[in-house]
Amino acid sequence: MEGNPFSGVVPGDDGEYRLPHPFKLGLLAAAMVALTLAVTLAPAAEGIGGEKVALAPARALELMRFVRHDCGSCHGLTLAGGLGPALLPHALRGRPVADLKSVILDGRHGTAMPPWSPILSEADAAWIAERLLAGFPDAR
Ligand code: HEC
Repeated sequence: MEGNPFSGVVPGDDGEYRLPHPFKLGLLAAAMVALTLAVTLAPAAEGIGGEKVALAPARALELMRFVRHDCGSCHGLTLAGGLGPALLPHALRGRPVADLKSVILDGRHGTAMPPWSPILSEADAAWIAERLLAGFPDAR
């Protein structure tokens, strides 16, 4: 296991793989957030499509793919809804960016909506919320 990047994941008595202790998971999450922040804050260039939350174009492109694939697995590839509700502009009309951003970062307890703060920064979540309200761009 030494040198294995996944060495925090240890086999249990029954040979099943278990998630690491919450404390380790917290450290991992903090490290990932720090990394994401470093990556997103460093080359703050103009955003695609003139959004208020400016991300580096490369990060914006990454998020476009991420939202379509990862969020799309529950909200539908066209974001028209699936296990999770539709995330199209008409469905979200009138919702403050701050509300959507906190659902994205914190998830909704007691539902399938998971918290994304371990892998998305505040700026990422605000950008996604803003883009969802305006009509999410296609990553092509
Ligand atoms: C495992 C399934 C799942 C995944 C993956 C998922 N969601 Fe959700 N999401 C849900 C469910 C279920 C709800 C509805 C929760 C409720 O009943 O309040 C929801 C709710 C939401 C809401 C609130 C919608 C509203 O009308 O209040 C937003 C915004 C949202 N998700 C964005 C995202 C984004 C962005 C991603 C990707 C980063 C994502 N979701 C990934 C299942 C998921």
